[in-house]
Amino acid sequence: MTTRETLRALPVLAHPMPSFDPTATPAEPIALFAGWLAEAVDAGVDEPHAMTLSTVDADGAPDARVLILKDLDATGWHFATSSVSAKGWQLATEPRVALSFHWREQGRQVRVRGTARAADPTVSRADFRARPEGSRVATLAGRQSAVLTDRAELDRELSAVRARLTADPDLVAEAHTVYAVAPTTVEFWQADRERRHVRLRYRRTPDGWERELLWP
Ligand SMILES: Cc1cc2nc3c(=O)[nH]c(=O)nc-3n(C[C@H](O)[C@H](O)[C@H](O)COP(=O)(O)O)c2cc1C
Repeated sequence: MTTRETLRALPVLAHPMPSFDPTATPAEPIALFAGWLAEAVDAGVDEPHAMTLSTVDADGAPDARVLILKDLDATGWHFATSSVSAKGWQLATEPRVALSFHWREQGRQVRVRGTARAADPTVSRADFRARPEGSRVATLAGRQSAVLTDRAELDRELSAVRARLTADPDLVAEAHTVYAVAPTTVEFWQADRERRHVRLRYRRTPDGWERELLWP
């Protein structure tokens, strides 16, 4: 089979999926997202907290990568990364971003557009200290997104950092930064096997959140 034939033979949105009544939704999107996330966890969705963060660079060219959602509160969707990574530099010049979640088992997608703001350094340091040792070592060793000429260089750096962390367990990577994405629009998409998909978009206005249905 050609790649094209293989792709065309793959099923999509063919499995049983929950229904979604967009008229029975809360007035603001964070509560609905929290509900969908809890349902994804309960349904055993794999890595439901993995999301794609899209940014643009200084030339306006888009970029995207997968990150882990670390928290959700009134300030928005939180993630943690290095402020001196590619995305860190991009966020410093253009903080407007998009986040997307795909929960395949439930045929659900959520798209968030908004502005990322770095949390207070005390929050980022506390987040760093709460990470497992392996993650702290990787970040402390990190020049995330810089060119690596030799894998052995990474191994040397990891061993050296592991020794430093053992000697000083309170070491913190100062570039480790928690960002919160304050939403301007949030779209909830529920697939339907008959292709009567439901799209509900929340849009922030000066008077609060507007809810509108979109053509699928
Ligand atoms: C499932 C998964 C989870 C990830 N979680 C994070 C994360 O929470 N923070 C992070 O900086 N990178 C994470 N990464 C790595 C990023 O996708 C990316 O490779 C890295 O952050 C460098 O991105 P940049 O060059 O655009 O800055 C994750 C990758 C995957 C596949």
